[in-house]
Amino acid sequence: MDPSTVAAHWEANAEAWTRHSRAGYDVYRDALNTPAFLAMLPPIAGLDGLDIGCGEGSNTRQLARVGARMTAIDIAPTFIRHASESEAAEPLGIRYLSGDGMALPFEDASFDFATAFMSLMDMPNQAAVLKEARRVLRPGGFLQFSILHPCFVPPRRRNVRDGDGQPVAVEIADYFETTDGKVESWWFSTLPAEERAKVDPFRVPRFHRTLSQWVEMVVGAGLAIEAFGEPRASVEAAAAEPVIADTRVAPIFLHVRGRKPG
Ligand SMILES: C[S@@+](CC[C@H](N)C(=O)[O-])C[C@H]1O[C@@H](n2cnc3c(N)ncnc32)[C@H](O)[C@@H]1O
Repeated sequence: MDPSTVAAHWEANAEAWTRHSRAGYDVYRDALNTPAFLAMLPPIAGLDGLDIGCGEGSNTRQLARVGARMTAIDIAPTFIRHASESEAAEPLGIRYLSGDGMALPFEDASFDFATAFMSLMDMPNQAAVLKEARRVLRPGGFLQFSILHPCFVPPRRRNVRDGDGQPVAVEIADYFETTDGKVESWWFSTLPAEERAKVDPFRVPRFHRTLSQWVEMVVGAGLAIEAFGEPRASVEAAAAEPVIADTRVAPIFLHVRGRKPG
C-alpha cells in the first residue's frame, strides 16, 4: 500500500479515534500499555523529545508533564488539530506538526530522545523511520517505541477462553506472512453497542514484520538495543479491567529501546 493511502486511512480514523480514546475506550493504552512504557523510560526531565505518530497527543502530554520539551508529529492533520487544541487549552509547551515519520522535517541531531507509541507497525517503511529517528537523535540519544507484539499478534490471532469466558490461551497463525497494508477493521473493544451502531469501525493498514525483522531493522538503523519490555496486567488490573486479562496469557505489546552510539 502506498504511503498516501495509509495516510488517508488514518485521516479517516482520526475524528472517531480522538473522541473514543478521550472517552476512555482505549483501555489497553490507558490501563497497561502507556504506564508500562513510561515505567521503562529513562529520566527525560529537561530533555528535548520527539514523539513520532503522536495521534491526538495523549502520550505526548504525559511526556511533557514529566518535564520533557516535546515536539510531536503525525501524518493525519485531524489528529494534529485536536492535539493543538488541547495544547491551546492547557499549554505544556508542545510543538505539534503534520508530517511523515519516514521523512522527518528536522535537522540532524535535534533531539535527546524520541518515542513512537504504537505507530511504527502502521508505517510502510519501518527501516526508513528507524533511520530517520537515529538521524535526528543527538549522539547518545535513544528511541523507545511500542508495537503490537510481532510474536503474539501476527495477522491472525484469537483468544481461547474457558467456560467462564476467561482467557486461557492464544491461537496465532501467519506469523511469517509479512503484510503490506492489510486493512484490519475494529472498534476499541469496550466501545458500547449503541456507539458501534453510529460509527464505522477504524480501518487500520498493518505492516506486520517478524521479531527477527524488527531486530534487524533497529540494529540496521544504527541503534544499539538496550531494553525490551512485554507489559503484563497485574491480577488486580485484570480484575479491574477484564478486557486486558488476555495479557496475562501472552503479551500483546512489545516495547523496545535502542540507543544511538555516543
Ligand atoms: C495506533 S495510532 C497511535 C497514536 C498515539 N501514538 C497513541 O498511542 O495514542 C498510530 C498513529 O500513527 C500515525 N501514523 C501512521 N503513519 C504515520 C506516518 N507515516 N508518519 C507519522 N505518523 C503516522 C497515525 O496517524 C496514528 O496517529
